[in-house]
Amino acid sequence: MLVLGIESSCDECSLALVEDGRVCIAMQTYSQTAEHARYAGVVPELASRLHLQYISRMFRALLEQAGVKREEIYGIAVTAHPGLSGSLMVGMSFAKALSVSLGVPFVAVDHMQAHFYAANISLPNEQSAASSNSRKKNAPLYPTIGMVASGGHTIIALVRGYNDIDIKGTTIDDACGEVFDKVAREIGFGYPGGAALDAAAQNGDDRAFNFPVYSEGYNFSYSGLKTAVIHHRKKYQNDGFEDTRENVAASFSKAAVGMIESRVRRLAAESGVGRVCFGGGVACNSYLRAAFAGGAIEAIFPHPDLCSDNGAMIAGLGYEYLSRGFYSPLDAPVNARSAQYRRRPSSKSS
Ligand code: KG4
Ligand code: ZN
Repeated sequence: MLVLGIESSCDECSLALVEDGRVCIAMQTYSQTAEHARYAGVVPELASRLHLQYISRMFRALLEQAGVKREEIYGIAVTAHPGLSGSLMVGMSFAKALSVSLGVPFVAVDHMQAHFYAANISLPNEQSAASSNSRKKNAPLYPTIGMVASGGHTIIALVRGYNDIDIKGTTIDDACGEVFDKVAREIGFGYPGGAALDAAAQNGDDRAFNFPVYSEGYNFSYSGLKTAVIHHRKKYQNDGFEDTRENVAASFSKAAVGMIESRVRRLAAESGVGRVCFGGGVACNSYLRAAFAGGAIEAIFPHPDLCSDNGAMIAGLGYEYLSRGFYSPLDAPVNARSAQYRRRPSSKSS
């Protein structure tokens, strides 16, 4: 069953075709990062306009890449929330128009739920995610701990099914990726600098600084770490180490990833679930991947193209709904927020 996924919640316009919710046979992603870089952040109206400009031609390019005809598409899945309203409306309107013109059902899905689903999907010829493990290929990865860290969210959950996500902790202030970007900008890696900071960290020494790490419950707090790195780092510098940006990058990465690692390990111990599926742009991070390499907890990292915002995770999740007969009506709305992923007060930290 071939499902088209459409993702346009922020500054990535991404369309993908996924077979039976597991294998992405083609994907076209246009990242607007370069367009927003001069403003050092995503400009919502510009994002909507660029989605509108690119989405039709990307659909044509996708069909060409896949070598399939539009009549072969069984159904369409589209991101409805959370995200930038104008950007969401472009993808949603395109999905509805296509659904009517092709005479196929469509389903509106949640972007965060799709990030939790991404580990189920692999790219053609890819030995990763579900297929890299000893379990039967295509078997669902449940139950699992789900850990999604992106530019807008940091969420740890117990995931028992594609739509059964029991959230244990979220960020109480800045999101993990957001802080990677802010620290990266401060130490000179431009915007968005998470990946560049990660690369520089490989040449640094993470013993150079002992940055503070928030350790309460399952919720995350990154603002203290951000302030320490940006404004007070001399206070945390160890003797014999230089204040180079590589050393800052390495020490910061260790602290930021440490906050994730300790919560995943605690939840694994408390729940008895020995598997974790990562998602979101920060799941590309080398420190995070190294922290779980070859350990007792089975760690599943999607391909980097499936970690950051992508149409394949939308199509995969959409397949789960469409194949069970769940469709959305043509007046389905978009929402800037998803109630369940709002930042929670720190008193509810576990
Ligand atoms: O999931 P995503 O593509 O978009 C959102 O929904 O936010 O995540 C983007 C975030 C950015 O903050 C980016 O700097 C961060 O993921 N990121 C990384 C790495 N690659 C991307 N952070 C740390 N290490 C990386 N290698
Ligand atoms: Zn995302």
